[in-house]
Amino acid sequence: MLKQRDVVSVDDIETDEMFAIFELAKKYENLLKSGKRISDFESKIMATFFYEPSTRTRLSFESAMHRLGGSVLSVPEPKSSSAAKGETLADTMRMASAYSDIIVIRHPLDGSARLASKFSSVPVINGGDGSGQHPTQTLLDLYTMWKEFGGFDKLTITVLGDLKYGRTTHSLIRMLSRFKANVNLVSPDTLKMPEHVISALPKNFKVNVTGDLNAVLPKTDVLYVTRIQKERFVDPNEYQGVIGAYSINLETTQEMKKGSIIMHPLPRIDEITPDVDETVNARYFQQAANGVPVRMALISKMLGVN
Ligand code: NCD
Repeated sequence: MLKQRDVVSVDDIETDEMFAIFELAKKYENLLKSGKRISDFESKIMATFFYEPSTRTRLSFESAMHRLGGSVLSVPEPKSSSAAKGETLADTMRMASAYSDIIVIRHPLDGSARLASKFSSVPVINGGDGSGQHPTQTLLDLYTMWKEFGGFDKLTITVLGDLKYGRTTHSLIRMLSRFKANVNLVSPDTLKMPEHVISALPKNFKVNVTGDLNAVLPKTDVLYVTRIQKERFVDPNEYQGVIGAYSINLETTQEMKKGSIIMHPLPRIDEITPDVDETVNARYFQQAANGVPVRMALISKMLGVN
């Protein structure tokens, strides 16, 4: 089981482990609603290292650990840690494992979380590594779909936006490829899903790559929207060329099938207009709220208390 293992990629989580996390997350969700306190993790400490901006991921990890009764040590930005003095990630991780029982790291470089896990003697969770992966976002994304639809087989998921730099989409389609889900990938031409992500999917899992959202919208159950990852563009002209390239508004929702939902890992910039928030399709705020019980369940499994 997940006890004492690292979660750097979605590949680190077996399918049955994911469903066990969902079941436990549901229990935690009910416990949270009932207002009961949990104290199983009283002596446990989580260290969080966010070397890149974050609101939801950091806060929901920290909230999850506090809700479990544990405590959190946090390095909110690299400037206030020894990274600013030139300390290597390896040394920081060696030390952090002496101070904590579990580490969460977000870092601008692809592969950084894997590196961190090599030097840490306690389990490491990847909270996003550059344009690489964001496995815990995928857990809460799939938990949101699972609660809504009960499973993923025959579900049509349309992933829209910056598929080139958007790590949440890389992890998402990798995990979905374990199921008989239909996946449409819709993006501006310059922001297509990287070939290395697609070619690493199982050969029997086909994705439909298109630039035409309207063609796939009527059959879509989940419209997963992402923002353009402005901070990752190497060439500012490339960014200028895609500003405002897509927008989900009330008219879009009218084309959507009954019972379909709109998700977004957030932050949202201008790719979903605020009036969509009030529609029956909007699930993104609930999705973000699901981050707490899902991360509680993951931490609990990794620390081996449940
Ligand atoms: C995402 C991320 O950091 O990759 N945010 C998040 O964790 N909810 C998506 C994004 O920044 O666009």
